[in-house]
Amino acid sequence: MLIFNTQIELVSHLKSISEQNNVIGFVPTMGALHEGHLSLISKAALNNSIIVVSIFINPTQFNNAEDLAKYPKTLDKDIEKIKTVFDTVIVFAPSVEDIYHGKTVSQHFDFDGLENQMEGKFRPGHFDGVGTIVKRLFEIVNPHNAYFGEKDFQQLQIIKKMVEKCNIPVNVIGCPIHREPNGLAMSSRNERLTIEERKEAAIIYKTIMQARKMFPVKSAQDISEYVINTFKNHPNFVVEYFEIADEVALLPCIRKNKSKKYRAFIAVFVNKIRLIDTISLN
Ligand code: PAJ
Repeated sequence: MLIFNTQIELVSHLKSISEQNNVIGFVPTMGALHEGHLSLISKAALNNSIIVVSIFINPTQFNNAEDLAKYPKTLDKDIEKIKTVFDTVIVFAPSVEDIYHGKTVSQHFDFDGLENQMEGKFRPGHFDGVGTIVKRLFEIVNPHNAYFGEKDFQQLQIIKKMVEKCNIPVNVIGCPIHREPNGLAMSSRNERLTIEERKEAAIIYKTIMQARKMFPVKSAQDISEYVINTFKNHPNFVVEYFEIADEVALLPCIRKNKSKKYRAFIAVFVNKIRLIDTISLN
């Protein structure tokens, strides 16, 4: 397994193998890898001859300093995890300095309003940070295919928008959400939950599954009320938002339109740990 800590080394390696007709698949991550991340790597392994996985905790996408400080940093463990499953993967784990050259700031993007909904509303500047780092990583790795999880569905749509608007020649591929046996969406942040909280967090998936069942017969507003009321029985869980929105513009569903695909989106705080989940409704 090859591990590069600077973009110069990675680019020079990729250049040295560029004449072999390789197809490069890219999986960007912030580390603290779990089965969800590994499922993206597995998907990349199906259609690419080279796989690059980046591990970089991107400071510009954190709107909360404590969240950044407490984000799990487990590089050695991450490398071991990848090694046991995909020994041929190239890992790119740069420093903040190597990526940002002393100017740790975001570029500002216009994602046609996608950035103003849900996560964007509650995490100001988050998607500028995501756009900045993903664009920079695309320029460094120059992949044919890039893999993103539907767990961060809004992020996935924003990356697709960025690629289209900035004319970046990469195929963006969405991958299904990997869940714990109790339904909790796998997340690096789950590591910060207590065993009890992790068990109780099954309520998130259970509730959005129920929202999915209700969707054909209930209004979006009725479903939202149901969800908010359900969490009242779980005082350790504070809902930041629950939204039913269409998959393309991510605008809230006021009245259902049969030609549109809808999803439920939820963000919940468990103590200070913020968890998100989403499910397709039709
Ligand atoms: P991170 O949270 O590490 O996630 C890396 C990728 O793994 C994202 O595409 C995310 O959607 C996907 N992922 C996370 N949990 C998943 C799960 N349970 N099932 C399937 N896929 C899952 O998302 C980021 O990092 C960053 O914003 C990044 C894109 C790397 C830019 O910094």
